[in-house]
Amino acid sequence: MAITIEKQVELSSYTTMGVSAKAQYVARINSVGALVEALNWAKNNKVGILVLGGGSNVLLPRYFEGLVLLVGLKKKDIIHEDEYSVELLIGAGENWHEMVEWTVEKGWIGLENLALIPGSVGAAPIQNIGAYGVEVEEYITSVQYLHVETLDLIWIDRDKCNFAYRNSIFKDELKNKAIITEVQFKLPKNAQLRTDYESLGYFFSQHGIHNPSQQQLFDAVIQVRQSRLPDIQTQGSCGSFFKNPLLPSEQIDRLSTRFPDIKTYPMPGGYTKVAAGWLIDKAVGKGFRKGQVGTYEQQALVIVNHGGASGDEICEFASLIHSKVLEMFKISLEAEVQIISKNSKDI
Ligand code: EPU
Repeated sequence: MAITIEKQVELSSYTTMGVSAKAQYVARINSVGALVEALNWAKNNKVGILVLGGGSNVLLPRYFEGLVLLVGLKKKDIIHEDEYSVELLIGAGENWHEMVEWTVEKGWIGLENLALIPGSVGAAPIQNIGAYGVEVEEYITSVQYLHVETLDLIWIDRDKCNFAYRNSIFKDELKNKAIITEVQFKLPKNAQLRTDYESLGYFFSQHGIHNPSQQQLFDAVIQVRQSRLPDIQTQGSCGSFFKNPLLPSEQIDRLSTRFPDIKTYPMPGGYTKVAAGWLIDKAVGKGFRKGQVGTYEQQALVIVNHGGASGDEICEFASLIHSKVLEMFKISLEAEVQIISKNSKDI
């Protein structure tokens, strides 16, 4: 057998939340062949699997009974280029921010608003990562995955990925069934930059920048993120812990009479999205803390590990926030972070 199965591996450094977590078995995956072997091994040994990309959106249990796959599939190919656009084929194990940096250096437009999002390229389509007015679905053309049961390698077009706000087919119909191996992107060479997000507009006016270049936009996104979100190198977090809830506009209209400064975004079809950060800020505040877990000092939607908190403590803290928001606003927040159970076959 070409792959090595390691036993009793400490996982805290493979996730951004930094909770202490151990896996019964771990395999490091550098090729599709190795992935197939690892899946066969898990099947023969009757253990569940868990795929870790950048570990930036998962909360692990103290002990995971099963096989953790550390997907390190690398590839950075230009598969087509003309004067208008470029098409890229990127391995699931590539680092997301490094890829964005490369596209900005080349002057290919689109991903600069998604700078500094932690995690891997393979994780990006799963929750359709988004920031500062852009969602990755706009630039993905197709996704390749390995079907865990049939072991077929399948390409799925973006139209079939059911992309939605922080959601896709990979969190739904294909949950536990697909391991993303490659992602194909198409980026324009000439396109309008997306500078309209409130906090970016504020940043540009503060810095006297009128017509930002792509590089200036990229730099602004990095600076705004750094000022609002914790540095995962020094503080454990998973970014936003909950999704911004989408609710019938009538419900929000009723709330706005009680809370006139509620932060909302009108959406199509009679729905309104509410800033969960604002709700949590009102319910418990920024920098609210219980033991070693708390809301971040600059952004209440982000839960941080002040050091040594277990996955269970973080879950308990998240439940407390959930109930405080429910009590105050009658809104039930949904976690954006994937909470993994101890022998979950979750991927
Ligand atoms: N707000 C508060 N108090 C807070 C936090 C936010 O009043 O403690 C208000 C802000 O002032 C703003 C509004 O709520 O008016 C929205 O806040 P922000 O612009 O920070 O964005 P967000 O909706 O909280 C989303 C994404 C982030 C992404 C930012 C920027 C979700 C769940 N989160 O946050 O993504 O970086 O927009 O585009 O959609 C992530 O998914 O992990 C993540 C960090």
